[in-house]
Amino acid sequence: MIRLKYMILTWGCQMNEHDAEVLAGMIEKMGYHETHLEEDADLIILNTCCVREKAENKVYGKLGELQQLKSKNPELVIGVCGCMTQQPEVADRMRRKAPHVDLIFGTHNAHRLPELIAEAKEAKSPVVEVWEKEGAIVEHLPTRRVAGIRAYVTITYGCNNFCTYCIVPYVRGRERSRLPEDIIREVQSLGEQGYKEIMLLGQNVNSYGKDLDLQVDFADLLSQVNEVPGIRWIRYMTSHPRDFSEKVIKTIARSAKVCEHFHLPVQAGSNTVLRRMHRGYTREYYLELLTKVRESVPHASITTDIIVGFPGESSEDFADTLDLMEKARFDAAFTFLYSPRSGTPAAQMPGQISMEEKKARFQKLLEIQNRLSLEANRRLVGKTVEVLIEGRSKSDPGRLSARTRTNKVVIIEGHEDLIGKIVSVAIKEAQTWNLTGIVTKRAEL
Ligand code: 5AD
Ligand code: SF4
Repeated sequence: MIRLKYMILTWGCQMNEHDAEVLAGMIEKMGYHETHLEEDADLIILNTCCVREKAENKVYGKLGELQQLKSKNPELVIGVCGCMTQQPEVADRMRRKAPHVDLIFGTHNAHRLPELIAEAKEAKSPVVEVWEKEGAIVEHLPTRRVAGIRAYVTITYGCNNFCTYCIVPYVRGRERSRLPEDIIREVQSLGEQGYKEIMLLGQNVNSYGKDLDLQVDFADLLSQVNEVPGIRWIRYMTSHPRDFSEKVIKTIARSAKVCEHFHLPVQAGSNTVLRRMHRGYTREYYLELLTKVRESVPHASITTDIIVGFPGESSEDFADTLDLMEKARFDAAFTFLYSPRSGTPAAQMPGQISMEEKKARFQKLLEIQNRLSLEANRRLVGKTVEVLIEGRSKSDPGRLSARTRTNKVVIIEGHEDLIGKIVSVAIKEAQTWNLTGIVTKRAEL
């Protein structure tokens, strides 16, 4: 019997990684088995991201490489999906630039993958199906998760914020919340399967429930998830500072399983820029929010996203961002060069900043943040903390990689039977990006 093999390549955020798990679930139900070798695959799916131009270029680069494979093996089915294909002009451009692609589908019709693969196998020309508008949430799709440690659970799809730089609302549709009972049932099942950690996913988890005819918000949902047996740690991604209510902070403070890590993307430190980004808060509000978080949740770690070179960002505006970083003392910051996205308001704004200037500003951000990250990590040296051991370290496979509740990576010595356990670790050394430590007790906490 021929065993058909598939491979999914994913770019972008956790949301996309989780989409890949659902795509894999559907494909495996069709009888395919996973391979990590492109040459062996009968089906290759590129699950794309379009949040910055760089992500799109990588996809076109990969498609170029796959052309050779396709000419050697014309039976190979190549599919492209995800945020990038949801943009109106992309399907056309892709058909011109990469005629060897057999199937193009959008984010709103991913659940139709089995039918689309069958069509693509029969069709003489590429099959394209990109629904412009989101449909109802499709529940009970088979999902193939990596066994054991952390499981992603979607709580909302789409986004209603329309930050002026961001393409996501256009490619992921309007915000839709899953029903609390569907979410809780999924988390319960994951608890029974032995998952230790749950990551609740949404573009803006803090507005969970606003579109439902129910009296339920993100804080209520966290309280419910906190009660599910088996699950030890709860994380969530991504938060919008504007919607991060005091009720959520208080709920996190008293819910033992919810981790003390707050990812609060600030994007910029200048009020003028924040206004033109359409973020809905000021730097003063944001810094006050951090004070509240730190008062309610001692030892919380706080991370952020920052964009440099937004159109019209003056050197004073940029100085405000640097100043905010010093005041906020982030544990880590993901910093991005502003990338104009076609169809978003900011792409049309006057005062686009040159690449050279953006890079110079980016470098300054990095220098400051590296110093702050190292300082934050050094404060942990000598402390004993709880970690979940996730697997072998990628950079040093002889050692193990673990994560603290505050989302810091700790490299430790230890036998692989520790993988998947929550243990105590004494922190010995701090680097900018991670920590090293020693397991103090092998018994699971
Ligand atoms: N250019 C640069 N960075 C962007 N982000 C979103 N859109 C853009 C863009 N057009 C960043 C934001 C967001 C993160 C996921 O990506 O900081 O929080
Ligand atoms: Fe990429 Fe953003 Fe879509 Fe995530 S939401 S897949 S980062 S474009």
